[in-house]
Amino acid sequence: MNRPPDGLPGRYRGEFPILERKVYLNSNSLGALSRRAVAYRHQFEDQWNDLGASAWYELWMRKLEDVRAAFGRTVGASPDEIALLPSVSAGLAAVAGALDFRDRNRVVLTELDFPTLAYQFLSRERTGLEVIMVESPDGIEIPIERIEAAVDERTALLATSHVFFSSGAIQDAAALARIAHRQGAYFLLDAYQASGQIPIDVKAWDVDFLVSGSLKWLCGGPGMAFLYVRPELEMEPTTLSWFGVEDQFGFDLRAARPHPDARRFEMGTPAVGAAFTAAGGLEIVEEVGIERIRERNRELTEDLVERLAEAGMRPHVAPEATRRSAVVLAEHRDAAGAVRRLAELGIIIDFRKDRVRLSPHFYNTFEDNRLAVEALIES
Ligand SMILES: Cc1ncc(COP(=O)(O)O)c(C=O)c1O
Repeated sequence: MNRPPDGLPGRYRGEFPILERKVYLNSNSLGALSRRAVAYRHQFEDQWNDLGASAWYELWMRKLEDVRAAFGRTVGASPDEIALLPSVSAGLAAVAGALDFRDRNRVVLTELDFPTLAYQFLSRERTGLEVIMVESPDGIEIPIERIEAAVDERTALLATSHVFFSSGAIQDAAALARIAHRQGAYFLLDAYQASGQIPIDVKAWDVDFLVSGSLKWLCGGPGMAFLYVRPELEMEPTTLSWFGVEDQFGFDLRAARPHPDARRFEMGTPAVGAAFTAAGGLEIVEEVGIERIRERNRELTEDLVERLAEAGMRPHVAPEATRRSAVVLAEHRDAAGAVRRLAELGIIIDFRKDRVRLSPHFYNTFEDNRLAVEALIES
């Protein structure tokens, strides 16, 4: 393979201390921690120590707004279209609670989606909701015709992943939104495995709801998740918190008026420390640029797929390179054991069932891929 120059400018690699000690190829579980995120985290603690509660009004509320706006930019949305939540599951619960399933009781999703998406709606089947789970012929992708055939006038919501966590395959979000809307259903995109590695445009694609979080490709750690809600949708939350009302500091118990923007879905005091960490990751991702990250990650992905195939470990990825993301699974006779043995050598990868999973990000190099695959061959 003809490889382009290895790596983004050293200053970005240098931002992530773990890369000095480890071959880190597990960004789809947890993006690497940057020096900038650590510095922001310290700022949060210093402000807490110096100012006590007044840090809230002067600084922390502003930080929350910065994070809301920064995430919005990564998906092409404005800040008032984004709710801050502690997890994707909480975002899904907010949407599930707000939808009206009386006339249309079906939710269509796929068997390759992340389990929490299915659990959210399966747990509501006792209320009359019905989950339709579209099957995959190969465990890698879902043919879009199958999804189209499953969505009909009984469907309230089509909810599925942008990138499948179990194969890295990318779905065509715009086409899925069209399928849902043609039948009068809403479309929800779970972008957790895409945010930060794949450019997203909720407006161009006509997405109704998008859930994501800072933990993975956005390199922002756990505790900060996001829900985009199309502004034209007037549905109200069934669980309203004091962060979700129009006049939060009016402290009027009887004024349970939901905020007119996406904030109405927020659930109480956000994890401010997590917002500071998330700000560091988001800032770096925006600085590098998601288009550029996508380009770099494609080079790393193709290099990895080729090395694994040459080594006889069949890659479990989309056949078409354009539909692959930087989540690369491959067969290994002892995937769990290999992950443990590589960790002893300072090479961090993961496994899902009987496959190893490697996920390079913009800060990785071809050399990282080489070291990991060689260690896997010997493992
Ligand atoms: C695609 C996808 N959705 C959702 C989740 C989980 O989200 P949360 O734990 O924030 O509810 C994950 C986590 O790995 C994921 O990969």
